[in-house]
Order: sequence, then structure tokens, then C-alpha cells
Amino acid sequence: TDRPVLDRRGRPLRDLRISVMDRCNFRCPYCMPEAAYPEGFRFLSPPERLDFDEIARVARMAAALGVTKLRLTGGEPLLRPGLADLVARLVRIPGIDDVALTTNGVLLDRQAGALRAAGLHRVTVSLDSLDPRVFARLSGGRAELAAVLRGIDAARHAGFPGGVKINTVVQRGVNDDGVPDLLAHFRHTGVVVRLIEYMDVGSRNGWTRDDVVPSRALLARLGTLWPLEPLLPNYRGEVARRYRYVDGGGEIGFIASVSAPFCGGCSRARLSSEGRLYTCLFATEGTDLRAILRDQSGAGDDERLRQVLSRIWRDRADRYSEARVEDTAQADGTKYKQTHEKIEMHYIGG
Ligand code: GTP
Ligand code: 5AD
Ligand code: SF4
Ligand code: SF4
Repeated sequence: TDRPVLDRRGRPLRDLRISVMDRCNFRCPYCMPEAAYPEGFRFLSPPERLDFDEIARVARMAAALGVTKLRLTGGEPLLRPGLADLVARLVRIPGIDDVALTTNGVLLDRQAGALRAAGLHRVTVSLDSLDPRVFARLSGGRAELAAVLRGIDAARHAGFPGGVKINTVVQRGVNDDGVPDLLAHFRHTGVVVRLIEYMDVGSRNGWTRDDVVPSRALLARLGTLWPLEPLLPNYRGEVARRYRYVDGGGEIGFIASVSAPFCGGCSRARLSSEGRLYTCLFATEGTDLRAILRDQSGAGDDERLRQVLSRIWRDRADRYSEARVEDTAQADGTKYKQTHEKIEMHYIGG
């Protein structure tokens, strides 16, 4: 692309994460606790969600501004009817060289083949535990572990060129003891497990700093089971720190979003399923792109959309996770104050 757009801290826009569905078939307590999302909860109605034409238009304009990577997320993206058709359109956008999907995996068994055929490059499955009881608790009792494992196998066998990853959010006293089992299961399979520090996303999960197992501590613990050595990043601004098992068992990653934030290289924008654009995972407000996309007066043309996207990015100064560290590092030890209007994870998909 000719003119990459830079934000106020000199960071380019490279990565657009698109939430295609605010609903989820899980109720992970840290994301959509059952009590906050009961049976009659009012999710978006289908016409409120961006349709595939609208999503593809935003993606095309983002690509024109320098985006090369798209990630489809939710809620649960596989609940969106016809998702493979959207993938087929997105992979053809000039400048886009990586289209990934983040899913809880429960519907992947049925859809992996169609997604692969549509040109999806890679898949990341969220999986926090291989212990059926812990898994049940962490998915809100809505799904069976076996179905997720079948989904992961289906994705492996579909042969996505960028492979399959597992995202594991580690919570102290909840699933941290099960991490070795999880790693053992995926060693020698080519599946890359990434261990994520539990974050204070949204305002409904009751996060406290004590719930976080710092990546450094986890790495030390795991290194006594399997010697590990660091690998170089795959690309600039990669969120995960990569390691390989010295014995050739494969690769794992650590995402230290709390203890070692990576705002300095953050090139991610997030599009919610209703078409709001957020420039940070912890943003409190986004910009309504849907109004522009649906403007019938002729003012909502591509050039206008491109200008708006470009202005949003150029105005951006977000560095929430770094600011949180500076705050908690204060001598008086005051706990970081959670604001109560942060966007919820299931609207923007992490
Ligand atoms: P690859 O493209 O495979 O390197 O992964 P990715 O960088 O797209 O990461 P992914 O979407 O798999 O994110 C994994 C986890 O990292 C998310 O669920 C978040 O917990 C965390 N994460 C990703 N991006 C950000 C970010 O911009 N800010 C913060 N604070 N955390 C992030
Ligand atoms: N902290 C870190 N990661 C989270 N995810 C959801 N909530 C949190 C949180 N509070 C992860 C999910 C999934 C991705 C979409 O975001 O586990 O891998
Ligand atoms: Fe769990 Fe992901 Fe669904 Fe949130 S969107 S409830 S993290 S499966
Ligand atoms: Fe980017 Fe915001 Fe995450 Fe920092 S906290 S890495 S600015 S999304």
C-alpha cells in the first residue's frame, strides 16, 4: 500500500479484528457470566449487525490504509450463518495476506472443511482446560470438551496453511494447575498453545490482579518440566513471546498482556458486530461506521469511509495496558481502578 496511516504514537494500522457475532454458545465466567447474560438477554438483531457487504467494504478500506491481517471473532463467529462466504470475500481483498479465525471450537468439526475451502489461512481455538470439570465451569456448562477436541482435530486435518493455535487464558487457582496437561496433549502435534495472562477486560468479570499468573512465573514452572528456549518473533509487534521445547516437541507462546504490555507495537483496530470501530481492547467508546455505511444520501461512499477510518487512526493515542502498569507501580500500591464503561469482550472478540 502507498500511504500507511500512523497514529499519534507512530504506530501503523496493520490488523483489523472483526466481530461477526455478539452472541456466544458459551458462558465463560470471565467474558459472559451466566448471571449477566441470562436466557432472555437482548443481543443484537440480525439487521443491526453489519452484513457481509458492509464488513467487506470496511475491510477493503482498511486494507487501503495498510491493514494486511484480518481476524474474525465474536462472541462466537461460527454462529454467524454463512461465515465461509464472508471468508471467501475477505481473502480476495488486495493487500490482505492473512485471514484468521478465533473460535471456541464447538462448531468447528462441522465447518472446518468449508472454511478451508473458502481460503481461511488459520484457526485459533480458545481452550482453557482439558479437565472436563474445569472445562465445564469455564465454558459456563454449555458445551462438551469432546466436541471442542473434535473441532481442533478437524481443523488440523483440514490443513490450514497457517496452522492451528490454542489460546489458554490462565487464572490462578482456577486452571493454572492444568496447564502442563494441556501442553502435554498438544506437544508433537504442530498445534501451538499460547498461555494468556488473564486481563481486566470489560467490567462484568470481577477481575483482580491476584487472579493473574505472570508469564515469567509460568515459564519458570513449565521450564522445570520441559526445557524451553526462546524463538524470535514471527513479525514485528507479535503479541506472543515464542518458545520451543528443546526436545523438539514444538512451539508454545506466552501473552503477557498484564505484566509486560505491548501497546508500543499495537497496530490493532477492532470492529464490533454492529459496526463500531474501537482503537483499543479497553476502549470506552467507538465510532459508528454503520451510520456511514448505511447513509442513503450518497455521503456514505467509499472515499468518505476511508477518510473517517484514516482520521480515527491518526487521532489514536491508546496505551491502556501500559498505563495500568504505571498506575499499579505507584508506591502506595493503590489498586488499579476499573472504569465501568469499558466495552465487553463479546462485542469485540478480544
Ligand atoms: P497471532 O496473529 O496468531 O500472532 O495472534 P494475535 O496477535 O492475533 O492474537 P490473538 O487474537 O490470538 O489474541 C490472543 C490474546 O491476546 C487475546 O485473546 C487477548 O487476550 C490478547 N490480546 C490480543 N491482542 C491484544 C491487544 O491488542 N491488547 C491486549 N491487551 N491484549 C491483546
Ligand atoms: N483476559 C484474557 N483473555 C481473554 N479472553 C477472553 N476474556 C479474556 C480475559 N479477560 C480470550 C479468550 C479467547 C479470546 C477471544 O479472548 O479466551 O481466546
Ligand atoms: Fe467464552 Fe469466547 Fe464466548 Fe466469551 S466469546 S463466552 S470467551 S467462548
Ligand atoms: Fe493495544 Fe489497547 Fe491492548 Fe495496548 S491495551 S495493546 S493499545 S489494544
